[in-house]
Amino acid sequence: MAKLWSGRFTKEQDSLMDSFHSSIQFDNRLYAEDIRGSIAHVRMLGSCGIITDDEAQVIEDGLWDLLEDIEAQRVEFSPEAEDIHMNIESLLIERIGDVARKLHTARSRNDQVALDTRMYVLREIDEIIDLIRRVQAALVERAEENLGVLMPGYTHLQRAQPILLSHHLMAYFFMLQRDLERLEDCAKRTNVMPLGAAALAGTTFPIDRERVAKELGFDGITENSIDAVSDRDFVMELLGCISIIMVHLSRFSEEIVLWSSSEFGFVTLDERYSTGSSIMPQKRNPDSAELVRGKSGRVFGNLLALLVTMKGLPLAYNKDMQEDKERLFDSVDTVKGCLTIMERLIDTMVFNAERMRTACAGGFMTATDVADYLVRKGIPFRTAHEIVGKIVLFCEKRGLSFSDLKLEDWHSFSGVFEEDVMDVADLDASVSARDVYGGTAHSRVVEQIELAKKLLG
Ligand code: ARG
Repeated sequence: MAKLWSGRFTKEQDSLMDSFHSSIQFDNRLYAEDIRGSIAHVRMLGSCGIITDDEAQVIEDGLWDLLEDIEAQRVEFSPEAEDIHMNIESLLIERIGDVARKLHTARSRNDQVALDTRMYVLREIDEIIDLIRRVQAALVERAEENLGVLMPGYTHLQRAQPILLSHHLMAYFFMLQRDLERLEDCAKRTNVMPLGAAALAGTTFPIDRERVAKELGFDGITENSIDAVSDRDFVMELLGCISIIMVHLSRFSEEIVLWSSSEFGFVTLDERYSTGSSIMPQKRNPDSAELVRGKSGRVFGNLLALLVTMKGLPLAYNKDMQEDKERLFDSVDTVKGCLTIMERLIDTMVFNAERMRTACAGGFMTATDVADYLVRKGIPFRTAHEIVGKIVLFCEKRGLSFSDLKLEDWHSFSGVFEEDVMDVADLDASVSARDVYGGTAHSRVVEQIELAKKLLG
């Protein structure tokens, strides 16, 4: 097949080169963006008198037909035509003849691929945001339904202070809220239309860039044609946003893996999202959570690969930039898959409230409350901290917990202790005492849930 750019060539391309540089195997997923972009472009060419209205109409009709046939899987793409952009142009020429040779007037593949990629990124951002909202909704639902459940809060994976399970779940809600806002922000910078940059310097034709932008639903147009075709910041940004989402999903997955172990026993995963062992009949493994945790690695790798690809490139377009596609597509597919499975996992896991409460007992998790008690009796916090540390040491040596201590034991550490110290050393009291905005007290977690519901709309 003759290449669309074969004019200045005298030799056929080595078939090895075709398979080496062609991107159609993966960029074919941009077909809808490419055709919609071409339709907007050709309409503008017609309205600006760069081609006739009739020509524009014939090309547009041909593009719509082609779109329909691609969607019905009646079209085969060819690696010889390199990429989705030239496949579509070649197919159009094949179908409607020479008039289709006018489509590429005032345009280059360099601004075309920038356009298609921006459109794709914007579409996927919307889809990822939808999936994030579903995970958030699942978290809110489980948080609301488990408001009475106490669990140990950890620092250094050591039991720290009692918290509400709902509080812990809502932490992930707010992480995902930032993820969502980051994506919205990334969309703002992606939402500029690059056509008109042509190869890099702009075009000699009197085109109307604003018209194309408006027709395609862009908020604006790129400011500098060289930047327009060199810029893949929006892809790097999206891969960065996705990487942070994966950090969050991976941390939650790690907790799910821990929580579902016999050592913790805090949750039981639904069988539909667990797997068995090929040798050990008793096993039920949290593979779904492990895979989400594991897939974070490839997503971070995709970001790094693109950063490294871009960092040494002179302006403007270089073929290296074609390497953005597989990284982009893989990260998008991966994060969507992970968000989808996480929603189901959250929806179906069973919390073991008793195990969580039992895990709070005996570990001096209310030591901070006792120190705060002393502060309310006029003792400086640092001193109170030391006193309670000594009490903990005393108990540990004797295998006691706070509730085993008599008033005279307390008194031997400080005269200000009264009978009511036992109230503050209580788990539920400890939770309700953290009545600060954002804190773990029941009413404060309800506040977070209310806000979350508002954000979900
Ligand atoms: N397939 C190319 C890419 O993804 C399209 C742009 C090609 N431009 C060029 N001058 N070779 O980057």
